[in-house]
Amino acid sequence: MIPLVIRGGLVFTQNAAREVVTADVLVKDGKIAAIGENLPADGAVKAIDARGLFVVPGFVQAHIHLTQTLCRGLADDRELLPWLKDRIWPLEAAHSAETSHTAARVGIAELLTTGTTTILDMGTTQHHDAIFEAARDMGLRYYGGKALMDQGEGAPKELLEDTDTALRTAEAQKQRWHDTSGGRVNFVYAPRFILSCTDALMRKVAERSRADRVLIHTHASENKGEIEVVKQITGHQNLRALHELGCLHAGTVVAHGVWIDESEEACLVASGAAICHCPGSNLKLASGVADVPRLLKKGVRVGLGADGAACDNTLDQRVEMRLAALLHRLQHGPTGLSAQAVLDLATIGGAAALGIAHAIGSLEPGKRADIVCLDPGFALPSPDPVSALVHGATAANVRHVFVDGIARVSDGELLDVSLPALMADAARDQRRLVERARIAR
Ligand code: GUN
Ligand code: FE
Repeated sequence: MIPLVIRGGLVFTQNAAREVVTADVLVKDGKIAAIGENLPADGAVKAIDARGLFVVPGFVQAHIHLTQTLCRGLADDRELLPWLKDRIWPLEAAHSAETSHTAARVGIAELLTTGTTTILDMGTTQHHDAIFEAARDMGLRYYGGKALMDQGEGAPKELLEDTDTALRTAEAQKQRWHDTSGGRVNFVYAPRFILSCTDALMRKVAERSRADRVLIHTHASENKGEIEVVKQITGHQNLRALHELGCLHAGTVVAHGVWIDESEEACLVASGAAICHCPGSNLKLASGVADVPRLLKKGVRVGLGADGAACDNTLDQRVEMRLAALLHRLQHGPTGLSAQAVLDLATIGGAAALGIAHAIGSLEPGKRADIVCLDPGFALPSPDPVSALVHGATAANVRHVFVDGIARVSDGELLDVSLPALMADAARDQRRLVERARIAR
């Protein structure tokens, strides 16, 4: 791979001092080799002119469902449990390997073209190899795995497995996909949520994730109705119940954490588990507002994510940044969550939630070259670049995206993918899902 130099952009390093500097970024062998002024570039170097552009770490989304990309618009205006039972589960049950592959490709296309380079993804029960294949081929940094479901009132039979089958098939995925594509594609255990998993499954996942040093990715404390059912069944608050099952540890990422009390906060702090904040999803499903400023104050690691296209029609991390920057003002006033804190959630915070802040999440020599160049457009003029990036995020245009130093988006165009053909496949496959799931459109 020939070295690459990204010249003269405004570099949001997200280093410990959170420096923003006008500089060149030199990339060698997939890593950032140097950041500085007028970096020497001998003959065999590819140069990108980034003057006037914002150069930022690739965004990290700590909770996504690629499998739900084709469910976009098919489950509007419902709360979590009816949303799952009436729409999402029947639609997921209708997936084939082919529709799963299309869903993943459309989702990844949107993520890359909007500047997200790393995701933590939750699949559905079947056909997850198709999602790994799409991530491998399209170059996204990927952490994910099949959803584990061995019980669930209202879940279609296609989504339910016995405990041993769930564990065995997860193990096979781990063997096949974990730490592949040079470490870019990784397996994680994804027990969907307490209501879809027996205690036996949860305990085994807890054990294996610790032994294998593989992440756990789950949902909890998202919706009031959900936490009431969890309380009835387990006798505990949702995060306390996960803690009792051994599922909260420093390698656990819990999506949402909207409805949690002080004792559950203590579980997060004691276990070191991370939360993924999903403001767009929490608003669309009318779930509530996670108290992110408070969690951060307590020292909980927090990432940011769009969740799925069926509960948040766009997977654009910049939209989530903008929502996070505004939402917490309702409870905490105008200084509730600073623009810098929001940019942290979207980059280094998400990387820390996934336990990979040593490798990505900031632009520093030695880190993987996951880099996004944005044209700030109507986000400027504004004297504070971080404020401009966060509050004006959607006014900016993504020009170039690199993952491991490999260009995936160039001059705003996704490379190696025909978007019109992909979107035609997506429309066809959404129709197939609707027909097979027998739901009204
Ligand atoms: N809880 C269990 N499954 C899901 C899901 O697919 N999406 C969301 N938002 N919450 C869940
Ligand atoms: Fe989710």
